Amino acid sequence: MTELNKIALQILSNGKGILAADESTATMTKRFDSVNVSSNENNRLLFRETLFSSSSMKKSIGGVILYDETIRQKTSTGKTIPELINSSGSLTGIKVDTGAKILAGSKEEKVTEGLDGLRERLKDYYNLGARFTKWRGVFSITNKYPSNLSISTNAHALARYAALVQEAGMVPIIEPEVLMDGDHSSRDCLHKTSIIIRKCYEELELNNVSLEGTILKPNMILPGVNSLEKISNEEIAELTLECLRNNVPSSVPGIAFLSGGQTEIEATANLNEINIRNNTDFIMTYSYGRALQQSALKFWSQDVNNINGTQEIFDHRAKMCTLAAQGKWSESLENKK
Ligand code: G3H
Repeated sequence: MTELNKIALQILSNGKGILAADESTATMTKRFDSVNVSSNENNRLLFRETLFSSSSMKKSIGGVILYDETIRQKTSTGKTIPELINSSGSLTGIKVDTGAKILAGSKEEKVTEGLDGLRERLKDYYNLGARFTKWRGVFSITNKYPSNLSISTNAHALARYAALVQEAGMVPIIEPEVLMDGDHSSRDCLHKTSIIIRKCYEELELNNVSLEGTILKPNMILPGVNSLEKISNEEIAELTLECLRNNVPSSVPGIAFLSGGQTEIEATANLNEINIRNNTDFIMTYSYGRALQQSALKFWSQDVNNINGTQEIFDHRAKMCTLAAQGKWSESLENKK
């Protein structure tokens, strides 16, 4: 077992998953605006420190993805944020892309940037305590998109990123996110997500990335939010498994889904159904942002000093996700806090 494979397994094993707390300042400001909290550096630190010091960190959270601002911050007790995260046995991760920008050549689509100077930034992040990283490529589904140009440029960037990250001794999370926006069918999502994932692995192999030292962070296979299609959690699980079984090489140790705008319960129920049916060797777990933090943020916004109350809400969500990552969740558990 290689060192990178060990790190990946440490993050994903035993029902643990990833807390994606890597919202950029602009995205965090949107989240804070939605609950009327001022988005300043102190408030962002306070909310995140509250989550990172909760008791579910030990039991449920194998890794936390941070944003550049947070990895450099210190807690109220003087520890660095990576020290706080590591003290619960969890690993520190860092988002290293610099965002999705308009793709010249197909101006309605985006390409994720951040390769320039990445080798140097990775050294810095490693020294700050990071052991894994994230890069998100983003794709929309319409009749004509995603274009071949967007698929190949994003897959190429993801692969070059992953090779640099492994060179720096860290595990790259490969995140090709197909957005839920639109009125496409679940079959269309299956078809287009499959093409994108296949292209990513073609490029990863070309760039000599060791797949056993990577984690895939995909979307689940869902109809678009504006589609009239009705689909059950069981069907979502079947389609998602079909996509991953057919397109992800078996040397990948684990898959950690993004929640992508699903509610907390939808994201939990779908992950649970996936694990009940998981007939692959992949670990299937979560790497949720909104689906882990939404209720906690709402509660916290009522009284930012209510640390225990906020942690209780977060702990419950993390526990539910960890049960779902083992196929042991049921809706009746949601009310037993
Ligand atoms: O890149 C996406 C985030 O890491 C996951 O966030 O679960 O809210 O989609 P989400």
